[in-house]
Amino acid sequence: MITELATNVYWVGAVDWAIRRFHGHVLSTHRGTTYNSYLIKDEKNVLVDTVWDPFAQEWLAGLRQIIDPARIDLVVANHAEPDHSGGLPPLMRLCPNATVVVSKRGAESIPGHYHQPWHLKPVGTGERINIGSSDLVFIEAPMLHWPDSMLTYLTGRNLLMPNDAFGQHYASAFRFNDQVNQEQLYEEALKYYVNILTPFSSLVTKKIEEVLALNLPVDLIAPSHGVIWRQDPLQIVRRYQEWAAQKPEKRAVILYDTMWQATRRMAEAIGDGLLAGGVPHKIIHAAAADRNDALVEVFRSKAVLVGSPTLNNGLLPSLMPLLEDLKGLKFKNKIGAAFGSYGWSGEGVKLIEQHLAACKIPPAAPGVLAKWQPTADDLEKCRALGHAVAAAVLAEG
Ligand code: FEO
Repeated sequence: MITELATNVYWVGAVDWAIRRFHGHVLSTHRGTTYNSYLIKDEKNVLVDTVWDPFAQEWLAGLRQIIDPARIDLVVANHAEPDHSGGLPPLMRLCPNATVVVSKRGAESIPGHYHQPWHLKPVGTGERINIGSSDLVFIEAPMLHWPDSMLTYLTGRNLLMPNDAFGQHYASAFRFNDQVNQEQLYEEALKYYVNILTPFSSLVTKKIEEVLALNLPVDLIAPSHGVIWRQDPLQIVRRYQEWAAQKPEKRAVILYDTMWQATRRMAEAIGDGLLAGGVPHKIIHAAAADRNDALVEVFRSKAVLVGSPTLNNGLLPSLMPLLEDLKGLKFKNKIGAAFGSYGWSGEGVKLIEQHLAACKIPPAAPGVLAKWQPTADDLEKCRALGHAVAAAVLAEG
């Protein structure tokens, strides 16, 4: 349903209640998502971002309720990823003379996706376009999270449209942050940050400082996914500052897989040691867990312990996507440890330690290896490992 956000400014997006996998199959979206698109009616009519192609026809039908698309003068494409640009081809067929406003890198990525002779206007940080009673102001945000990413600000309404930043994959009948369950909202906002923005955390910090230094009044932050921050809109900016600082909690996460329960028993003994040492933890069976949810636990936790039996001179394959993300997401300020059972060759623990080193996660204690099913002595070594990791977690300032 079209929603008026401010005088002559409308949400005209689409709610995708059903999607459960995003970015192909990279990201789980248990609560669906929205593709937010904004219409500003003024002397020049402006559309900021579109929707994913499967929703384009219903999106255009909604748009037609408040404007003839042929009357759109400017289309701001803050970012070329198809969940925001997918509606461009059908829209531009209806307003072929409209100008598509893009960042400088967007001048490569939009044509790179659509290969159409649209009239593009690249803009840089601080550039303004007057649309009548107000101005659009643009702020480039390269790598937040693509090279082309850009934020658009509307003067007069004090509306920041930061595209993917500050978003959540959260389908809702409501459009504003104060209308939804706060716990769910922040679960989704954090999951989004962890899985998409963590590698760019230092850029997030700098960009927020840069935007705050502009002293632009902000009454609404309208991202391209999820609800719009209306009540205390800067709350999500403060949260991003905290998340970008990557100061994990004094807790631990144990990621493991197991064939015949030996490594599971080791994981639980390590958990006992952590708890005895005063550190709360979660034990996650990688083969059964949602990878993106597990990564949220990793993000929150100071210590990451990884366990696998040795299989075919390597690790159980179910751990590999998590280990790949552990490297790619570039988590900071972690400590780690490895454990696992084996029957004959026994390289698993060493391989995990090498992997943690490649992720720049230093060892808090030497790993524990147990042959066949762990003995009472092996389980005691696991408890000692948990205790040593707990001590290292609590020793950090
Ligand atoms: Fe929501 Fe980068 O796409």
